[in-house]
This record gives sequence, structure tokens and C-alpha cells, in this order.
Amino acid sequence: MPIDNIVILTGAGISAESGIRTFRAADGLWEDHRVEDVATPEAFERDPVLVQRFYNERRAHLLNGIEPNDAHVALAEFETQHTNNGGRFTLVTQNIDDLHKRAGSSNLLPMHGELLKIRCSATHKLFPCREPIEVDRPCPCCQVPGQLRPHVVWFGEMPLYMDEIERDLSQCDLFVSIGTSGNVYPAAGFFQLASAVGARTVELNLEPSANANQFDEGYYGPATEIVPEFLSQL
Ligand code: APR
Repeated sequence: MPIDNIVILTGAGISAESGIRTFRAADGLWEDHRVEDVATPEAFERDPVLVQRFYNERRAHLLNGIEPNDAHVALAEFETQHTNNGGRFTLVTQNIDDLHKRAGSSNLLPMHGELLKIRCSATHKLFPCREPIEVDRPCPCCQVPGQLRPHVVWFGEMPLYMDEIERDLSQCDLFVSIGTSGNVYPAAGFFQLASAVGARTVELNLEPSANANQFDEGYYGPATEIVPEFLSQL
């Protein structure tokens, strides 16, 4: 069966070799910070200084020499080739870094938000952000201090682009999950939506994820090796 409609899901593992920490490894981000303290709306309400500092640090790290790696580039190049041949390609990422965008991916859905954007809590307007944000900085739209928050989906909040994601999954022939532990829903359930419409489901990861045995196929190793290899055989 020709592979016309492809949906890719990526997680922190695809950016690990670029120098960005994952969340649940032994040296993961959640080893140093409790989710409840830095990645929930309640945390932001309780201690906005701590939350803004957490994202300011991650933003500064991303902007300090971090580059897309061969896996990001291979996905962008494959998307161009596949769409030039009339195929459909959607890249859904759980990552908030901008490495897929910088690698050249175009049909990109950052379902957990973007680290290099901030949002006014009153108007929901987005603004580019490449520097540290102080808690009391007035938002450019209302000029009111304290309304700017990271444009990041926190635990307990609805992920972004879910209508497009579910539409594309319902029409896909191939679903590939790359560099995610399969711990966080709804992303961890996307393979089931693809499988339900008869798509081929593949996991590319450093090691088998929580749902590994429910994929049709699994290939394991560093993303910079297995992603270009897998795409070259499609
Ligand atoms: N190549 C491929 N996979 C890798 C590599 C690598 N070099 N390094 C790590 N991995 C894999 C790990 O084996 C793990 O399965 O990447 C996965 C990372 O898992 P997590 O740290 O749980 O990150 P992720 O799955 O993206 O987390 C999902 O949880 O905390 C929230 O919002 C946050 O988007 C995040 C979501």
C-alpha cells in the first residue's frame, strides 16, 4: 500500500543529542524540579518568580549554541521530498524547543507550546521571546504587569492543535513515534488512533517505551542514527 499520509510524533529524545535534557531519564529535568512546582497553572499562581526562572533558564540554554541534529534535519528533508511527491506529512512535537523549525520542518504542530514565545493571560496574544522575562513586565498588548506567561502547555491544561492532530491521525497510513517515553497523554495515545484506521505504527527510540509492544515495529538506538536510517528506507 503506498504511504501517502504520514504523521510523526516527537518527544524530548529527538533533541537529547543536541544537548537538551529529557524529562524522565536519570539526569532528567524532573529530577531537579517537581512538576507541581514549575509546570502547572497552580505553580504559576503560587510562585510566578520560580516558574518564570525555570523557563528563563531553559530559554537561555536553548539560545546558547544549541543546534538541530541529524534527526531533525532528516525529518525536514524527508518532509520536503514526500510533499513534493504529493504526499501529506504532519510533524507533531511535544517539545517546546525550536529545533524542528530551525531544521526546516514546515507542517509542524508544537502541541505543548513554544519556549521562544510568551502569552498575555488576558488577551492570549503571543509575542516572540528571546530574553529572560521578569514577573512584573507589562504585556505589550494591555501594558499590565504580571499578565505575561510562558506559551507552554502546563500539566492540567489542554494541548494545542488537537483538532488538526486528530484529523491527520484519522487519515494517516503511517504513524512514527520518535524519542518519547509514552508517559503523557494525549500524545501517548496517538498510536492507538492511527492503528484504529489501519495505519502502520512504528516506534523509534533509545529504548522501548511504555507502549513499545503495541506498535507494529520498533527500532532502537540514538535518534541521529535510527531516524535518518528509517526514513531512507521509506
Ligand atoms: N535518541 C532517541 N531517543 C532518546 C534519546 C536519543 N538520543 N535519548 C533519550 N531518548 C528517549 C528516552 O528513552 C525516552 O523514552 O526519549 C524519551 C524521553 O522521554 P521523556 O523524558 O519522558 O520525554 P517526553 O516523552 O518527551 O515527555 C513528554 O512530558 O514532562 C512532559 O511536557 C513534557 O513534552 C513532555 C512530555
